[in-house]
Amino acid sequence: MQMIGKAGKAAAIAAIAALALTACGRSETATGGSTTGGEAFPQNSSIGVALPQKTSENWVLAEKLFNDGLNGAGFKADVQFANGGVSEQQNQISAMVTKGAKVIIVGAIDGAQLGTQLKQAKDAGATVIAYDRLLLNTENVDYYVAYDNFKVGVLQGEALLKGMQEKKPQGPYNVELFAGSPDDANAKVFFDGAMSVLKPKIDDGTLKVLSGQTSFEQAVTQGWKAENAQRRADTLLTGSYGSATLDGVLSPNDTIARAVLTSVKASGKPLPVITGQDSEVESVKSILAGEQYSTINKDTRELVDHAITMVKDIQAGKKPEINDDKSYNNKVKTVPAYLLEPVIVTKENVKTAYANDPVLGPLTK
Ligand code: BGC
Repeated sequence: MQMIGKAGKAAAIAAIAALALTACGRSETATGGSTTGGEAFPQNSSIGVALPQKTSENWVLAEKLFNDGLNGAGFKADVQFANGGVSEQQNQISAMVTKGAKVIIVGAIDGAQLGTQLKQAKDAGATVIAYDRLLLNTENVDYYVAYDNFKVGVLQGEALLKGMQEKKPQGPYNVELFAGSPDDANAKVFFDGAMSVLKPKIDDGTLKVLSGQTSFEQAVTQGWKAENAQRRADTLLTGSYGSATLDGVLSPNDTIARAVLTSVKASGKPLPVITGQDSEVESVKSILAGEQYSTINKDTRELVDHAITMVKDIQAGKKPEINDDKSYNNKVKTVPAYLLEPVIVTKENVKTAYANDPVLGPLTK
């Protein structure tokens, strides 16, 4: 009896040990990296970078930075824009897998439309990093690297209120709300962040949205396109602002801010306080000239640098550094993230904000 008991115990211990090993192996593949040290793949491997459309300057800059940074570190950079749209981006990612990319970095046009290609990538053993925009409805994404998108929206909402108070200490203020493209996962997060600040002020009557268009669906700008924002601003102004003044506009980025300003200028009305994002050259000039009120500094050099640091860690068999493991659920999993801090820029801090920026710094001198 006793012997059988001992044998049973030994078998149980062996079974637990085997289970522990399996569990360990699983968690390694689930997060994409290996903890074993040693090279996870050769240094001169191909690294795919799938960028969306050139909807703002940050994406154009990212292309050059990824090419220089990855090639400079000894990898083979394969950086592609998908100006033709979603199916072009799907084909590009498939081609990266076929060419044997070990890491695929994706700035998605539509983060919910790449499921098949991301599965191909993972099946082929590649690690997938969502860059700037989250990849949705898929378990086949290992990491997310971005500026804190919700915080971007909060900063925009706060800047809008502050800018209007500087011009006119007491409300009520007439405002209109613009959001980004609904296929970009970031657009709703920016809007939600801003509305976390603005909604209570709409509810208590400090802010009046004369068009009545306060939902994300009503505020969106398809494709982040300037002409779409300008057309909506024209319609809002003629439809809801007969003799009324428009005090402020929530704009999710600089391209849309400038489009709305163009529309208001054409209407002959005074310019509203308007927010932005991306620190685009024309918008920084507009801030200096006292037209656009604010932008957001999300230094693309730091974001690309961080993405490349992740690639280097994965190549070396290390787990990339993560500083947020709870905020970005993509409807299938919470994606381990490294989030950088966005900075609000107005005329007040424009000089210090871009002091180290080779392009924007000289503009503010
Ligand atoms: C980026 C923004 C940019 C927008 C349009 C977003 O996903 O986070 O910085 O303004 O795309 O290009």
